[in-house]
Parts: sequence; structure tokens; C-alpha cells
Amino acid sequence: MTEMSQNIAQLKTELSSMIEAANDLESLEQVKVTALGKKGRITDLMKTLGQMDPEERKTTGQALNVLKDEIAALINAQEEALKKQALDQKLATETIDVTLSARPEREGHIHPISQTMEELMTIFADMGFTVAEGPEIEDDWHNFTALNFPPGHPAREMQDTFFLPEDAEEQGERAKKLLRTHTSSVQIRYMTEQKPPMRIIVMGRTYRSDYDMTHTPMFHQIEGLVIDENTNMAHLKGCLRDFCETYFEVENLPMRFRPSFFPFTEPSAEVDIGCSREGGGLKIGAGDDWLEILGCGMVHPNVLKNCGIDPDKYQGFAFGMGIERIAMLKYGIPDLRTFFESDKRWLDHYGFSPLDRPNRAFGD
Ligand code: PHE
Repeated sequence: MTEMSQNIAQLKTELSSMIEAANDLESLEQVKVTALGKKGRITDLMKTLGQMDPEERKTTGQALNVLKDEIAALINAQEEALKKQALDQKLATETIDVTLSARPEREGHIHPISQTMEELMTIFADMGFTVAEGPEIEDDWHNFTALNFPPGHPAREMQDTFFLPEDAEEQGERAKKLLRTHTSSVQIRYMTEQKPPMRIIVMGRTYRSDYDMTHTPMFHQIEGLVIDENTNMAHLKGCLRDFCETYFEVENLPMRFRPSFFPFTEPSAEVDIGCSREGGGLKIGAGDDWLEILGCGMVHPNVLKNCGIDPDKYQGFAFGMGIERIAMLKYGIPDLRTFFESDKRWLDHYGFSPLDRPNRAFGD
């Protein structure tokens, strides 16, 4: 063996063990430079070829090329092995538990009042109602007078009104400010501003000075108003039956319309739904007990007149309901006052997931 071929064999052993010893990609890169780089060991030997005679140059040249290829192949193999090792290590340490829920446990809840309002809106929108709004600070005319409450009428006292200081810029009944005692005031606002036919619901805060298990000074109502040329009491009954069956999710819900009195409707009725209170629990739609849930009637001709609508041409119905009350009945919430205590434990228990969909009309 020539001296040169011995050198080559020795270099091969040396470089091979360096490659094997490189245990990360960075040190392997160093070995690569040492072996194959411009100033590397194999290149150094290549440079000596020029001084050799043609025969020796040929064999040595070939041997060096073989060495170069072998070393390059070893480096590649080691590189692949190191990359795989790095990936395996990453996979082992950066584990993802796919059985964990995608989000942290939900923290926020939809308040039962918001949920119920969503449901009401969905049901009445399906029946072709649009939503109207009005101010919570009202005047005596919109809240009482235009709704056919005569001056000094006891019904004004019935509603435990919160009166506000008079507005110096206005005159008469419009100067007398109050917190609206019902959403019926928005009937007046809508009827004075729009032309029939109309089909609206109004939802919002109302205020009465009262506080016990079933009364809070602020509560929510929903009002319905339908005015056109032919709407009659049968339409009122049909509309409320459809609503109650959809909202309480009970088909053929027992209902009764009891004659009642409101200054702004004639005839007027209160609506009861059938329930059972056996065993302390309340079950809606079964048994022989009754629960009052809303007031309604045909809009009084005086109210239409007060809003500039001709009562000989137009007629219609209105209804009003307490939103807390129907939420309590549907979701089994026993005390009205708890709605407004902002107790997180209460909300965790009675609140709704933001992804819950409000119920839809039957058949949807
Ligand atoms: N405004 C009435 C109340 O608050 C409810 C009602 C509305 C009754 C519309 C008849 C028609 O008690």
C-alpha cells in the first residue's frame, strides 16, 4: 500500500469517527466543514494531486473522489438520524392531549332575562312582528292620559308610579315626568308616529314602587300591538295561544281568557294557563290549577283617537306580560328579587350558555 492510500484510509477512519461522534446538527456541520470544506482535509489532499505523476494522480484522484462520496453519504445519514432524533424528542415532550376540551371552562352566562327576550323575539318575529322601542323616562300623557286613564282615575294610583320633578321646558301633562309603569306607553308613541297596519312588540324596563317575592321596583315587560282594518278578538286569542304553546313548549296548553279591566282596552281579558302544583313542584300544561300570565284586549277606540287613528276604520288588539314572570315559570326560578342581585352562583345555576339557541315555533 502506498503512503497516499494509507493516508486516505486513515483519514476515512478519522472522519468517520468524527461524524459518528457529532451528536447534534451544529457539531455535524463543523465536521462537514472540516472534511469537505474549501480548506477541509479532503480538499487539502486534492491539492497535492498537481505534484503527482499521471499514473499516481489518476489512482489517488479516484480514491479521493470515492472518499469524498463516502464521507458525504455518512454525513447525510448522520444528519437524517439527528433530525429524526430531534423530532422524536419534540414529539415526546410537546404532547397535546386531544381529549381536553377545546376551550377553558366557560365563565360567562347569558342572564335568564336576556335569554327569555331572545326567545320572545324569535317567536314573535316568526309571526311577523317587528320590534319597537320607547323611552324609560316618560311623561304623564304617554303613560296614562293617552291610554284613556281619566285624570284622578284610581288606576293611576294602582300602578305605584315613580314621579320625577317636572320638566320646566314643557307644558301640562308632558311636563309631568315619570318612570314608565308599563310598556303600553310605547303603543302611544308608535301609533302617533306610524300609519296602520301595524304589528309590533316592545320589550324593556318598567318601574313600580313595590318590593317582595314577586315584585321588584324595576322589571321587564313585553307589549304586543296589532292594528289594521279587520283584526278581532279571535285573532288575539289565536296569536296568544300560538305564543304560549311555543314559549312553554306544551301543545294543547289549557288556557282561559277571564274578563278583566284596563282603561286602554275594551273588552279586556286576563289570560291564565293550566298548571299543577302537586307535590310542591309547578308543572305547566297539566293538572287543574290556573296561573295568570298576561293582560290583553281590543285597543279602546279612545286610544286610537288620541293617536290620530280613525276608530271607525281601524281596530286591533294589545297585550302585555311580565318577562321575569314568564321566565320564572319556564325555568323554575322561585324569587323575582334574585334576578337583580348579580350573584354569580345564581347566574352559574340559572344562566344559559352563549351557544344555546332560543326555541323556535313548532314545525321549524
Ligand atoms: N299594561 C298592562 C299592565 O302593565 C298590560 C296590558 C297591556 C294589558 C296591553 C292590556 C293590553 O298591566
